[in-house]
Amino acid sequence: MNSFTKVFQGTAFTSASPKEVAVLQDCLFCIDEAGMIAKIVHPEDDAYNEILQEYKNTDAFHRFEKGTYILPGFVDLHVHAPQWIQAGTALDIPLNDWLNTYTFPTEAKFADPTFAKTVYSDVVDTLLANGTTTALYFATIHKEASIILAELCAEKGQRGLVGKVVMDDPEQTPEFYRDVDTSTALAETEEFIVAVKELAKKTKQGVYPVVTPRFIPSCTDEALQGLGELAAKYDTHIQSHCSESDWAHGYVQERFSKNDAQALHDFGLLQEKSVMAHSNFLNDEDAQLFAETGSAIAHCPVSNAYFANSVIPIARFMAMGVEIGLGSDISGGFSPSLYDNTRQAVISSRMLEDGVDTSLPADQRGVPNSRITINEAFYLVTAGGGESLSLPIGRIEEGYAWDAQMIDTTIATAHLPIYGDEGSLMDTFEKIIYLTRPENIRQVWVQGEKVHNRS
Ligand code: GUN
Ligand code: FE
Repeated sequence: MNSFTKVFQGTAFTSASPKEVAVLQDCLFCIDEAGMIAKIVHPEDDAYNEILQEYKNTDAFHRFEKGTYILPGFVDLHVHAPQWIQAGTALDIPLNDWLNTYTFPTEAKFADPTFAKTVYSDVVDTLLANGTTTALYFATIHKEASIILAELCAEKGQRGLVGKVVMDDPEQTPEFYRDVDTSTALAETEEFIVAVKELAKKTKQGVYPVVTPRFIPSCTDEALQGLGELAAKYDTHIQSHCSESDWAHGYVQERFSKNDAQALHDFGLLQEKSVMAHSNFLNDEDAQLFAETGSAIAHCPVSNAYFANSVIPIARFMAMGVEIGLGSDISGGFSPSLYDNTRQAVISSRMLEDGVDTSLPADQRGVPNSRITINEAFYLVTAGGGESLSLPIGRIEEGYAWDAQMIDTTIATAHLPIYGDEGSLMDTFEKIIYLTRPENIRQVWVQGEKVHNRS
């Protein structure tokens, strides 16, 4: 007798390596009480029929119909939950003007917990409906509203990693949206960490507090130092923005005579559980520092097209051993869908390789060896995200959490063009990545529990 709490039968796609996607055809996925994948059984395995007979007439059994496929849940490594209310607007000005004109006034509204609850509830539901099972969130400077976001993740079953944002430098932040002072910012961060760690004990999937200096320009040296110490004391994740735009990169150079990466490292902010958004302007030495410390890059390809005015050399950084995942960067990125960002990661990398300046001869355009494949982009949005967070997520593999999305390629309003039985399953995989819309994402699970159901 086995003691699985759920057994799923169907076909799944998962990354076997950055370049390879494994097809698990007609397998049994056996889930234990903790929501982990205890066993994957292939049709040719001896145990297949035995487990099938034992479970097929029980409530624990679920068979995925023809035309439906399983993917790992997606991992969003960079999303500003409060900016959801301005998604799709105001993308026409440089980063620093955008922050001051639109974003800081938007985020200031989250001083109101009732408003925060309404918006954050919508954000968590929207990301789950888009197949995002784990999200690394920036909230705002407000401790209460940040705790509300963590509570909503806990309640709705999403694996949320949440940061109360710190912005204490009067030189670079407006009076209406700034921490009261440095010691209050640090004290509130510590209270936030303790509260979220307490909340986490009541969840199956886990919620996590994240130390979150917004970016170096918004923080004093004392705050950056104190935050590095808090992260070490409580062994938390750390997130910030690193070398995003010419402006931000240049600002840090002027203040410290070093690059962002080196400055963050000197404040104790680059470690195994650090995730730095964008990181477009890393030089090879900076990237080496990321690789050595185990710090990850949240690659935000949609947002980068607007605010970084650059394409990050993702293939080069992957080859250097830097951990990388994908981020939506709502609302610097307008889309809550990591499918959109996966597609854009491939598209942007091709533009970097082939170059866009057609006034140059073809052989003088672009940066060689910059392209990434759809398999590599899929790796980034799943396994790469899990590795970046040092969590057992992002793969359909024994010992990983059952965080999964069921894609229905057959529904009338959004069917995928799959004709006949001859097309290879890898063609189907590519179509799923390029053509899936929220309508196709019928069911979503986190840690073995169903968290989204589109009937
Ligand atoms: N740099 C500092 N804050 C932000 C933000 O909210 N979005 C982006 N894209 N970059 C930032
Ligand atoms: Fe951002």
